[in-house]
Amino acid sequence: MNRLPTALAVRESGTGTPLVLLHAFPLGASMWSAQLDGLPGLTGDEARVLAPDQRGFGRTELGTDEPSLDLVADDVALLLDAAGIGRAVLGGLSMGGYVALAFARRHPGRLAGLLLADTKATADTDAARANRERIAAAVLARDSVRLLAEERMEDNLLGPASGHLAERVRGMIAEASPQAVAWAQRAMAARPATLDVLPGLDVPAAVVVGAADTVTPLAEARLMADALPDAELTVIPDAGHLSAIEAPEAFNAAVRALLARVAR
Ligand code: MLT
Repeated sequence: MNRLPTALAVRESGTGTPLVLLHAFPLGASMWSAQLDGLPGLTGDEARVLAPDQRGFGRTELGTDEPSLDLVADDVALLLDAAGIGRAVLGGLSMGGYVALAFARRHPGRLAGLLLADTKATADTDAARANRERIAAAVLARDSVRLLAEERMEDNLLGPASGHLAERVRGMIAEASPQAVAWAQRAMAARPATLDVLPGLDVPAAVVVGAADTVTPLAEARLMADALPDAELTVIPDAGHLSAIEAPEAFNAAVRALLARVAR
């Protein structure tokens, strides 16, 4: 675990094409363990994988800025600067995908490729925004994320074949602080739609979704794949919203195929 000047804590493995992976809410970079292990390949030189803990999560401090995913995207640009990387393949799952889309809007020249997993480019409905504010206020008032953990698991984060992962995911959620959870909920509520940005992103892209994802379902994935000029859509059978954890081999195969297209 290195600490870069941006104060983002980052897990890193391998050498080769730079690939930055952005985690879901309210998890941390530890969700990418199978990607950090697998994507550099047996020789270790097929990808340089960097997985930061985004603001407030894992070992990265929250700071005092107002909630905004644009700031999280700018943190990623600073991370690239600090790591000596000009352009990278940027990937995000769910909230990480929202950050990747904010990065694509703000720093398009630094994208070599884009991976959008179990995420969406549409903005929140008013009801979704109100629900995020309810959760933000409740976790702060109770100084506990327990309510969130219960609700998230009830949201069917995992597909029907992934029950064995429930304790691991519950444990990851329990590590989040109420302050980070509230900040991220408010930042996600404020994010704009980014569908109109996608047609201008002329880089290889992969859109990945678990067939059983009910949080950001296949219809959202199709919207993004159709709007991107050069996207391949992969639907992972049986996986739910956390496809990278639930089906790491299928997920990593889709990422490898993207990396091969970037290298051409
Ligand atoms: C996530 O997994 O990051 C969340 O489901 C994103 C969201 O709440 O919209």
